[in-house]
Amino acid sequence: MKVISSICELRNCLSEERQNNKTIGFVPTMGALHDGHISLVKRCVEENDICVTSIFVNPTQFNNKQDLATYPRTPENDCALLKTAGCDYVFAPTEKEMYPEPDTRIFHLGPVAEVMEGVHRPGHFNGVAQIVSKLFDIIEPDKAYFGEKDFQQIAVIRVMVKELNLQTEIVSCPILREVNGLAMSSRNMRLTPEQHQKAPLIAHTLKESTTFVPEKNVQEVIDYVVNTINNEPVLQVEYFDIVDRNTLQSVKNWKETTDPVGCIAVFCGEVRLIDNITYKNKLS
Ligand code: PAF
Repeated sequence: MKVISSICELRNCLSEERQNNKTIGFVPTMGALHDGHISLVKRCVEENDICVTSIFVNPTQFNNKQDLATYPRTPENDCALLKTAGCDYVFAPTEKEMYPEPDTRIFHLGPVAEVMEGVHRPGHFNGVAQIVSKLFDIIEPDKAYFGEKDFQQIAVIRVMVKELNLQTEIVSCPILREVNGLAMSSRNMRLTPEQHQKAPLIAHTLKESTTFVPEKNVQEVIDYVVNTINNEPVLQVEYFDIVDRNTLQSVKNWKETTDPVGCIAVFCGEVRLIDNITYKNKLS
């Protein structure tokens, strides 16, 4: 496994691989890798000749300075995990390498970017589109792998890929959960032991809420989830919405969609956690 920080060097290596007819898979990450990331890397290794993983904490997607400053960074451990998972190239650039000049591009990401995270983290998806478009331009992957915990991010990236006429196939991969149900996230590392014990209530409540469908209406399910989680003093729901999987627009009635997804953001102390659940199988 090669660890590369220069764009030029990575381009040269990958161009040689391409000349040898190798397919290239890509897993973009911000490091602090956990089993969720590693499951993406393993799938990438399986489905492509070459696997590239990037590690870059992208400043333009953080709308909160404190969140950027405290984002966990574990580069040595990340590289050890990637090597074991069979990754071929780790791309770990500096900020100067990725942004020699400030990136002033504005992406038109459409209605999928204007709800939920788009409302609560203004500018976040534009920053994601800036970095992912740069990485796709450098790596030119055949396939790129994203985890479904960031459900809305995948929809936004698909719009970006269309907008830029890119050929990369976006592969979405299931959420990995800890044994207690908590969706795996690099931010879990920042939870205190007490918070870590309480946070699984989020996943537990989402799962429980599927048992009320379709008997309870959409608003009743939303109220149940929000109230149950907010009853735990350590947790504070920022939003919970039930949306159509494709449009990401709110549904008011189960009959409006065949594929409703519940998306949630919750503060656990200072740490912001997101998760989602499908209600699809309850409607068929
Ligand atoms: O999902 C993430 O970790 C980031 O948003 C990504 C896709 C690596 C872009 O910085």
